[in-house]
Amino acid sequence: MRTANITIVPAALTHNLTQVKKRAPNAKVLAMVKANAYGHGVAAVLPALKQADGIGVATFTEALEARQLGWDKAIGLVEGVFSAYEWQQAIDNACSCVIHHTPQLDWALENVPAADSPARQVWLKYNTGMNRLGFDEKTVIEAAQRLHDVGYQLILTTHFANADDRDHPLNATQIQRFSDMLKYLQQHITPSVEGSLCNSAGVVNFPEHHHDWVRPGIMLYGSSPVIDQSAIDLNLKPAMEFSARIMAMHVVNAGEAIGYGSRWTAAQDVRTALVSVGYGDGYPRVVSDDAYVCIVDADSGTSYRCPIRGRVAMDMIVVDLSAAPVDIKLDSKVVLWGAMPHVDEVASHAGTIGYELLCRLSARPKRA
Ligand SMILES: Cc1ncc(COP(=O)(O)O)c(C=O)c1O
Repeated sequence: MRTANITIVPAALTHNLTQVKKRAPNAKVLAMVKANAYGHGVAAVLPALKQADGIGVATFTEALEARQLGWDKAIGLVEGVFSAYEWQQAIDNACSCVIHHTPQLDWALENVPAADSPARQVWLKYNTGMNRLGFDEKTVIEAAQRLHDVGYQLILTTHFANADDRDHPLNATQIQRFSDMLKYLQQHITPSVEGSLCNSAGVVNFPEHHHDWVRPGIMLYGSSPVIDQSAIDLNLKPAMEFSARIMAMHVVNAGEAIGYGSRWTAAQDVRTALVSVGYGDGYPRVVSDDAYVCIVDADSGTSYRCPIRGRVAMDMIVVDLSAAPVDIKLDSKVVLWGAMPHVDEVASHAGTIGYELLCRLSARPKRA
């Protein structure tokens, strides 16, 4: 049977969550599981993340899925709700919502949940320089006052635009604006206002600014969130292995080209393997000539780094077997990403980021 497989490693997720907690020992953790847990599958990751204080999702449907899977701790809706009806649904399902613009503020003021409802805690979004979601300096104070007056507990939140690059000048600006506003709200509205600033890159790069809640995503899945340190440097382990199998082997003669567009021509006779994966599974179609896979010899367990030749097709890729032993077998396992190559490395060969490759895996690979 043709197989492309996605295997989730729960121990890696738990390990990575522990790394977050070590770096942010005094903060609560909102583990980001939006976009189907960055492509890993919410059902597969939730049990491994049970030590998180809550999970963060982007849509109400994602929140509902987590509730149906039995997640009974906090759920933060990081874009908030999209209608008054959804606001009521968020209350009914004990979600805690971001409020980032006036319509959401109005829905919250018109329909205040019971005092013991988790929806009484709201994440008030302050635009500190990302210029996507959030109230500005003047309106955020007014919103905070109105929410406080009707009994909401507030978490002031913002999102970094450049936290992956520690020295980017906007980081200092965002941190300053956020800290100043948090202090102001605590002094002038209520000392109980909490703060939440850091995504994964913030957790790593700005340890002195973790505040009450950190919101890590990508580092839980084992990718580095920062430009100057790798996942290994940060002691993060990949939570996914994406693999396929050798479905045929050939010798391509010198002078012959491989695949659509005849993009790669053999300089000498070359042993090749056809691997049962393509862009129909979520492997990127456009990769540079540096892209490689690891073929695993089932007998010895040894991995061989073998470059991809020619264009990635919908259902298959062709791999150069020159670096693998001549007796490598049909049906051998081929790792597209996992421990090696790391998804971040594949992403760099495809001109994108690990986040995107993980999120755009298709429904076709078999999930173990
Ligand atoms: C509001 C918010 N917080 C936290 C995160 C997690 O970011 P990362 O995956 O870079 O840790 C995201 C992701 O986009 C987000 O939108």
